[in-house]
Amino acid sequence: MAETLPYSWYTDGNVLARERERLFEHSWVYAGHTGQLAEPGTYFTTRVGDVPLVVVRDREDELCAFVNVCRHRGSEVMAGSGTCTILQCPYHAWTYGLDGALRAAPRAEADPDFDRGPLGLLAAQVDTWGPLIFVSPDAGKPPLAETLGSLPEIVAQGGVDVQGLEFHSRSSYSLEANWKVAVENYLECYHCAVAHPGFSELIDVAPDSYRLERHPTFASHYAPLRDGSAEGQFHLIWPCTKVNIWPGHANLSIGRVLPVETGLTEGFLDYFFAPGVDAAWLEGLFELDSQVGAEDRELVESVQRGIRSGALEHGRLMLPSEELIRDFQRWVAAGIGET
Ligand code: FES
Ligand code: FE
Repeated sequence: MAETLPYSWYTDGNVLARERERLFEHSWVYAGHTGQLAEPGTYFTTRVGDVPLVVVRDREDELCAFVNVCRHRGSEVMAGSGTCTILQCPYHAWTYGLDGALRAAPRAEADPDFDRGPLGLLAAQVDTWGPLIFVSPDAGKPPLAETLGSLPEIVAQGGVDVQGLEFHSRSSYSLEANWKVAVENYLECYHCAVAHPGFSELIDVAPDSYRLERHPTFASHYAPLRDGSAEGQFHLIWPCTKVNIWPGHANLSIGRVLPVETGLTEGFLDYFFAPGVDAAWLEGLFELDSQVGAEDRELVESVQRGIRSGALEHGRLMLPSEELIRDFQRWVAAGIGET
């Protein structure tokens, strides 16, 4: 069965609602790095699916994550990122500790039934892979290590010591395409020779050299340089976290795409390098990466226009070049309760 998912799944708000609820809200998704939370009281906000989250380093120096929705009447409690001693809602100043417990609510003494005890922020989960912070809105989700599986080992074998990486910069973007179109584009290099001439000049994209590898919770590409001197790795952790390692100086870029609407996706990529990276090499990498990014934008936005036209009910995958897309589509379908 090499048919794609039905194209209606890329435009239907009900499908997106199920994806958010059943896929995103029960997954580990990359959110940021420990450099953003260096001191007790530092925090940043993020979201997974439709759930706003706040990640904070508490007074005991532990990372905590909470659902960033006030227990009073639903305002987001924290905004942006920064340093705080308490988590205070801007609406009526309900005040939570860094442990999420409700500490104070103005005028509570006048309400004899008011009990702060059960009104703490809902717990979410946070876990790390070296400096990389992942979150899950699902308080019962098994540890991150279970989702990462053999990926840390594969990355180490690729010559990257994740623990020793230094954060360089974040690049943010949005795409006028369904999030699955963006992920599927990432999961195949069938288009590379045609659509990425600069990339293909450097990387051997022939099917015998460029390897795809299937895993239960992620998917991998191995991308050798044409001169055979090094190999890059590109991984996608279900549902939406990308991990890129370009061949050359030790580097890793990681980010995620998240749906905003059925036809709008936002994403970012955090770049990390081992210390002492050469400035000229860095410049070359960013140039190539932004060229590939611009080419991919054209492709995915064009796909979304084609899909949403309603002219076709589905497409047809080319196997084995697109077998990682097939895995992804099966995972999505199973996750939202379709077969
Ligand atoms: Fe947060 Fe009222 S909604 S204090
Ligand atoms: Fe591409």
